[in-house]
Amino acid sequence: MPEGPAISIGLIEYNSEQYTEAVALRQLVLRTPLGLKFTGENLTTDEHEFHLAASDGKQLIGILLLRPISESVIKMRQVAVHPDFQNLGIGQKLVEESEELARNMGYETMELHAREVALRFYSRLRYTTIGERFLEVGIPHFKMFKKLADK
Ligand SMILES: CC(C)(COP(=O)(O)OP(=O)(O)OC[C@H]1O[C@@H](n2cnc3c(N)ncnc32)[C@H](O)[C@@H]1OP(=O)(O)O)[C@@H](O)C(=O)NCCC(=O)NCCS
Repeated sequence: MPEGPAISIGLIEYNSEQYTEAVALRQLVLRTPLGLKFTGENLTTDEHEFHLAASDGKQLIGILLLRPISESVIKMRQVAVHPDFQNLGIGQKLVEESEELARNMGYETMELHAREVALRFYSRLRYTTIGERFLEVGIPHFKMFKKLADK
């Protein structure tokens, strides 16, 4: 089996050079395919979130944001892996690292709004759906969650 690229995962700073790269990646992977564009307004909450990025040493190839919701709940959002690097396990690594980070900060529950096309990806990582299907950015989503103690 061919080896994947050597990937490092870590937090990046809001408004850093890497943050700018991450916004471009989020636009490419999560907005352009839907015919949408980020505006400054869409990005206002970014300042108060955790930005976990994957890099292959040359460029930023994956991103995941964590938004604190309450003392015990944190929300995973904007999960995106560059199209050239999908299906190599990078998305899984980002999710697992984010869970570790959230657990270490004392959060008990991770929640997220999963695109229907990504349900299998999150189910495999032991996320459970809750409630009815709903539309967000014009496409079907399900709310999912995972108890972080369940590791
Ligand atoms: C979903 C995504 C984050 C997964 O990251 P990844 O590094 O490709 O995933 P991994 O290699 O760890 O796991 C592979 C699984 O991801 C899912 N996946 C891969 N490419 C995908 C894509 N373009 N869209 C949705 N899911 C995808 C599949 O479930 C795949 O395995 P399976 O086909 O055997 O079920 C990534 O593919 C992506 O950015 N997709 C487009 C944007 C998106 O849908 N983001 C999720 C928003 S909730």
